Amino acid sequence: MRKPLIAANWKMNKTIAETQAFLDAFLPVVADVSDVEVIIAPPFTSLTAAAEKMKSSPAKLSAQNVFHEEKGAFTGEVSAAMLIDAGCEAVIIGHSERRHILKETDEAINKKIKAARAHGLEVIFCVGELLAEREAGKTNEVLRTQITAGLAGIPAEGIVVAYEPVWAIGTGKTASPETAQEAHAFIRSLLAEKYGNAAQQLRILYGGSVTPENIAGLMACPDIDGALVGGASLKPESFMQLVQFKR
Ligand code: 13P
Repeated sequence: MRKPLIAANWKMNKTIAETQAFLDAFLPVVADVSDVEVIIAPPFTSLTAAAEKMKSSPAKLSAQNVFHEEKGAFTGEVSAAMLIDAGCEAVIIGHSERRHILKETDEAINKKIKAARAHGLEVIFCVGELLAEREAGKTNEVLRTQITAGLAGIPAEGIVVAYEPVWAIGTGKTASPETAQEAHAFIRSLLAEKYGNAAQQLRILYGGSVTPENIAGLMACPDIDGALVGGASLKPESFMQLVQFKR
């Protein structure tokens, strides 16, 4: 059984005070939720304040990025040990904004995943094709490259994959449940090639314009195990609705 996972990726949004206000409103709602796992990924500057608020909550704290080195002369970077120190249990790696705006390569992403796993952080590993790649019929090829290179040398344990088609992120153009399911099934087949039966236990999240209105249709698909949510996770009311998608 794969437990549904709903994760909030706040991206570069929210001050410390805004983070605290969100959590004051949101955390009581998930205080006794046990059938859905919840992860919240604020920006680095809000992590310690969020950790303090989330101390006795079942919701887990995640960072949005990590650097692969342990420490040293890497100005502006943050290590996995520092994320643990700040109270994180998870980290998002390989988000499309980091791949395409910050030019992160599959090789860099692979190193980050190794570092995060070495420190016991759960990894939300993001993959997804550009619109031009989908239109050229290259979706599966792109997914195969990203998964093969990103997960090279990495065991299945502690990995969550997030399928985020780039054309669906922040555009309001959600993938239809059929389109998303097709990609998720393909990703699971790639994971099965690599990990065998363990692929059945791995969660694959969908991300890209998920809202309280469309989440139920997506979650009804057999290979969609949760959602990675940007815009609709920024307001406690809408994130609450997303977490309660079953009710
Ligand atoms: P939106 O939900 O705003 O489309 O963002 C999706 C995303 O990138 C989550 O990581």
